[in-house]
Amino acid sequence: MKRLYIKTYGCQMNVYDSERMADVLRPLGYGMTDDPEGADLVVLNTCHIREKATEKVYSELGQIKRMKARKAEAGDGVMTIAVAGCVAQAEGAEIMKRQPAVDLVVGPQAYHQLPELIARAHRAKGEGLAAEFSPEEKFDALPETRHVSGVTAFLTVQEGCDKFCTFCVVPYTRGAEWSRPAEAILTEARNLAEKGVREVTLLGQNVNAYDGAPGGLAALVRQLAKVDGLDRIRYTTSHPRDMDEALIAAHGDLPELMPYLHLPVQAGSDKILKAMNRDHTAESYLRLVERIRAARPDIAMSCDFIVGFPGEREKDFQATLDLVTEVNYASAFSFKYSRRPGTPASAMPGQIAEEVMDERLQRLNALLGQQQQAFNEAQAGKVLPVLIEKPGRREGQLGGRSPYLQPVHLDGPDHLVGQIVPVRIVTGHKGSLTGELVQALEPA
Ligand code: SAH
Ligand code: SF4
Ligand code: F3S
Repeated sequence: MKRLYIKTYGCQMNVYDSERMADVLRPLGYGMTDDPEGADLVVLNTCHIREKATEKVYSELGQIKRMKARKAEAGDGVMTIAVAGCVAQAEGAEIMKRQPAVDLVVGPQAYHQLPELIARAHRAKGEGLAAEFSPEEKFDALPETRHVSGVTAFLTVQEGCDKFCTFCVVPYTRGAEWSRPAEAILTEARNLAEKGVREVTLLGQNVNAYDGAPGGLAALVRQLAKVDGLDRIRYTTSHPRDMDEALIAAHGDLPELMPYLHLPVQAGSDKILKAMNRDHTAESYLRLVERIRAARPDIAMSCDFIVGFPGEREKDFQATLDLVTEVNYASAFSFKYSRRPGTPASAMPGQIAEEVMDERLQRLNALLGQQQQAFNEAQAGKVLPVLIEKPGRREGQLGGRSPYLQPVHLDGPDHLVGQIVPVRIVTGHKGSLTGELVQALEPA
């Protein structure tokens, strides 16, 4: 067996892609290892979203290069180094120039060509580059069966982005919006369910722009809900402008659709939202959240924020805090604005000083942290259906997820893994819940 090491950076779509790369390589005799030292093929599946993410790749490559040299010195064969993902797409052949130990570079829409690229790279240095956008060809070429081990899985249904937020590289690294045909998704979902998967998270850079079935994402979710064994459906990431009535209605009447929604707003000031090209205002976002909560009152809202976008004044930032206060999030991710080459915002006047961004990020995180903790604490005393995902760290302990995506720790026997069981929540912590098994769900 040849040893394959894959390191994944960035978003869930990269996690999905890494699994699929392993699926593509398995027929060639590659099996996964979790140690890069001595591996025959090392794949770094990279993220380009912020400068830090990109820089990490180059420092990692420095280490991998030394492992490659050690393997060669030991007479243990050749280590092939591949850079995949969004940095591969954005920087292409530049990567091989900057780090000559890299053998091949493959973009997120071209990794089905990995076997061919590996062969080409071994024949001639510089031949291993593939960065064209061909999502359709890619999905057609991927093996139909997936290798899964857990009870939850990601399933990519949509790729790419046409929104062109002025800060963001994704439209350039992932290409135009494209949806997989519903039939292919259903086949993959049935296959997952047969292997014991109980919960799927549908993925797309703009997952709710899905149009691979009449009726869009709402129709797809309703079809998936009928798949035997699939009891929980989630989707991410949504754009506020694609959140249609049919999808909102599905949250109201489809028990399989989990009451958790990641709906990034980025900022609370209309001036900044306009400069970001978000195509929504703070007010329209708030009204949207209201409609979603009218359909599903207990829905947990999650969000992404950027602080320090060019031109952000203190009062603009204050508007972000106001919006957060009004929505009350169950969880959130916040980032300092990162100036990305080639994006319109990188050339805008009014770039914000690092110290100002640091200070705003701290204030925002303090507020979001309080909200998350309060949401978790408010679960205490409730009985929630928890999907048991894995044995816990301690003997006799289990780890699972609430409908609201909170990690739940409890004591119980291993054979419950894969089951959805009623759990009485005893304590809510900052980032998780502790609970105990109950025999049956109490009457509402
Ligand atoms: N398609 C998704 C997610 C895209 S990237 C969406 O539209 O929501 C994930 C998050 O990274 C974004 O929501 C945004 O908050 C953040 N992000 C993107 N570009 C960034 C940049 N240049 N600087 C800082 N954060 C950024
Ligand atoms: Fe980036 Fe905006 Fe597209 Fe999200 S919607 S991927 S933030 S351009
Ligand atoms: Fe990063 Fe690409 Fe995802 S830039 S966030 S890995 S789409």
